Amino acid sequence: MKFQSPKGVSEYFPPRSHAFEFVRDRLLAPIKNAGYQLLELPIFEDTELFTRGVGESTDVVSKEMYTFEDRGGRSITLRPEGTVGALRSVIEHGLDRAGLPVKVFYCGSFFRAERPQAGRYRQFYSVGIEAIGSDDPALDAEVIALAYEGFYGIGLRKFRLEVTSLGDAQSRKAHRVDLVAYINSLNLDEATKARAQINPLRLFDDKRPDVAAMMAKAPRLLDYLSTESADHFAKVQEYLSAMGIAFTINPLMVRGLDYYTGTTFEFVHEDLGAQSGIGGGGRYDGLMESIGGQNISGIGFGLGIDRALLAAEAEGVVSSTDFAPTLYLIPLGQSAKAVAMKLAHELRDSDISVEVAMGDKALKNAMKSADKSGALFSLVLGESELESGNVELKEMSTGVATSVTLSALVPTLITRTSKK
Ligand code: HAM
Repeated sequence: MKFQSPKGVSEYFPPRSHAFEFVRDRLLAPIKNAGYQLLELPIFEDTELFTRGVGESTDVVSKEMYTFEDRGGRSITLRPEGTVGALRSVIEHGLDRAGLPVKVFYCGSFFRAERPQAGRYRQFYSVGIEAIGSDDPALDAEVIALAYEGFYGIGLRKFRLEVTSLGDAQSRKAHRVDLVAYINSLNLDEATKARAQINPLRLFDDKRPDVAAMMAKAPRLLDYLSTESADHFAKVQEYLSAMGIAFTINPLMVRGLDYYTGTTFEFVHEDLGAQSGIGGGGRYDGLMESIGGQNISGIGFGLGIDRALLAAEAEGVVSSTDFAPTLYLIPLGQSAKAVAMKLAHELRDSDISVEVAMGDKALKNAMKSADKSGALFSLVLGESELESGNVELKEMSTGVATSVTLSALVPTLITRTSKK
C-alpha cells in the first residue's frame, strides 16, 4: 500500500524546504525587530469563533472550513485564518489589560477547502501579526511597512502594494444605503441577492464578468469616507510615503474576510498568475468586541509563505542549493572519528554548519557525499593530520586546499565564510 499526502496540501522537503525556511524567516525578521511577540496558537478552535469572527457571507466560512465534531460532541474547525484565534487568545489571557497596543505574531499552517491550483492549497502556511488597541494611523503604516520589508528582505521586487479604506461605521452606513439601492436595481439571481444582504460589499469581489461589469459602476466606499476616516487614511498614506513605500489606491479591493474596516491592503506579485495575492490585511474595528473582548480596534496582516516562495523562485532570488553546510568533515579511522565528532561539536558551537561523513566510507565515496552536500569546504581528518595538528582545508568550488592548524580552524572558517 502506497500512501500519498492529502489532495491539495503544500508540503516541503529537502532541498526546497531550505528555501521555504529562508522565506519564512525573512518574513519574520522585521516583525521581531519591531517588538512583536510570539503567539503559538492551536490549529483548531470552536467553530463559532470563525462563523462569528470571519463572517458567514464569506466563502471561507460558508464553503471552505474543515469542520468536524470532536469526541466530546463539540464542533471544531481547523483554523482557516489566524486573526480571530489570535484575538481569542489575547482576550482569554487578558493581554489587552497590560498596556496597549498588544503586538503579537504567529506563523504556521492554515486550512481552507478551496479548489487546489498553483499557489492555492488546502493547507497553506502563513506569517501573521496583529496590533491591537491603538487607532494611531502610524500603526497602520508600521504594519504595512513590516510586510513590505519582509517581502523586500526575501529579495522580491516585482510586487505592488494596493491600499484602500473601508471607512468607519458612519462611512459604511452612508455608503451601504446607496449601495443596497444600487444592488436592488440590478437583475441578480437569488443566491447573489442573499449574499448581498449579509454583506453587500462582497459583490465587488464577484468574478463573474456580468456581475463585475455591473459592480464597476456601483457606488464606491472610498467616496463616502467620513472626515475622520479620510483624515486617518490620508495620514497612513503620508507615513507610507515618508518611508519611501510606493502604493496604489484600489477602491475596488474586497478582502475575503468580513471583519475589515478602515485601512485595508494587499500585496500583489506580478509573476504569480491567478493566485497573485502574497499578503494582505487591514483594520478591524468591531472584531474584538464581537468575539467577547473590549471595544478596541486592531490591525494586522497575513503573508502567504507558499506564495512568497513561488514568487521568490519566479524572480530567481532564492535557490534551494543556496543552503549548503560550510564544512564537510571526513574522518578516516576510529581515532580520527572521535576527534572529528569533537571538532564538529565545537564548530557548531561557533555557529559554523558542519556535516560529518557517517558510516566509515572510503575516501572516494566520502568525497562524493561532500560534493553532493554542496558544502563550501571539505576537510579530511586521518592519522597524519591528527599527529601533525595540520589539516588541508579544501575549497570545493575551486579545489584549492590550504594548510590550517586545527586550532586555527574556527577563526579561519569564520573569516573565509564572512568574505563570501
Ligand atoms: P488572507 O488574505 O485571507 O488574510 O490570507 C493571507 C495570505 O495567505 C494571502 O494573502 C495569501 O498569500 C495566503 N493564502 C490564503 N489562502 C491561501 C491558500 N488557499 N493557499 C495558499 N496561500 C493562501 C487573512 O487570513 C487575515 N487573517 C490577515 C489579517 C491579519 N488581517 C488582519 N490581520
